[in-house]
Amino acid sequence: MRYSNKQYIMLIGQTILQNSYVDIGAHEKSMSTYVFSQVLPEKLEDVNQIVGAGTFGECHLKQYLRLGIRVVEKKLVESDLKLLYDEAYYMQLFSHRCVPHLIGIQTQIKPYSLITEFLGHGVESMTVYRLLFDAVFSEQKSRMLLPNWFRVCYDIVDAVHYIHQKEYLHCDLKSNNVLVSNQKGYLVDFGKVCKVRNPRAKKYKTVYPHSAPEVLNGDPVSKASDVFSYGKILKIIGEQLRNKELLSMGDKSF
Ligand SMILES: Nc1ncnc2c1ncn2[C@@H]1O[C@H](COP(=O)(O)OP(=O)(O)OP(=O)(O)O)[C@@H](O)[C@H]1O
Ligand SMILES: [Mg+2]
Repeated sequence: MRYSNKQYIMLIGQTILQNSYVDIGAHEKSMSTYVFSQVLPEKLEDVNQIVGAGTFGECHLKQYLRLGIRVVEKKLVESDLKLLYDEAYYMQLFSHRCVPHLIGIQTQIKPYSLITEFLGHGVESMTVYRLLFDAVFSEQKSRMLLPNWFRVCYDIVDAVHYIHQKEYLHCDLKSNNVLVSNQKGYLVDFGKVCKVRNPRAKKYKTVYPHSAPEVLNGDPVSKASDVFSYGKILKIIGEQLRNKELLSMGDKSF
């Protein structure tokens, strides 16, 4: 479905404000009853491309021979099964048009890994951050017109809203965790997800610009703190595009 810029602005605004919490109860499902598809390591062919590296490990681009598709293998440095199951569980629970599909998990050899559908440009992972600031993507950036950026912003708030409806929080919304593929936005990195009813709280020594000030001060994360971080994404895009609607929506989210 294609919307006009005005319609996108309305949709983004409405979705930020919407407060209809639907408890579908799926999150009550016990972890031990959840089944993940097992990916055999020998079916993952190396393409010699690292698409990202973060706190939890490296993300490698692979060819998944069984399905004949490109995938991302996120290798968890600590090979902590609980972390792996949690992230895999959330990716399945948050199955949405703007969240990459979970293909499965690999627990035969260490480091254990999470295998997801690859959403990128060629063999590169194109996050909002890289698209805005990395010269490698200057051509792709020049092709992104205002409606395409609005579309990406809407995709992300739609995914966040879906997660909030399920009574969960993403807790790590930032321009590095938003992918752009075929001019559509996708949310990644479910390593910090927690329940609205059981929010995490900790005092931070580092001031992360995408985190809400009360969270850095030790208050629990909340839907509002996710919206704050989302607003920062709107601001960073709005500043680059010098677009007053995105800047003003970004300001309203704080
Ligand atoms: N499905 C995917 N398709 C394309 N690129 C991806 C995909 N999943 C992850 N990436 C790339 O890998 C990077 C790291 O992934 P992710 O954010 O899940 O790891 P992380 O270790 O939790 O990162 P951090 O702690 O730095 O936020 C992402 O920023 C993105 O560039
Ligand atoms: Mg990340």
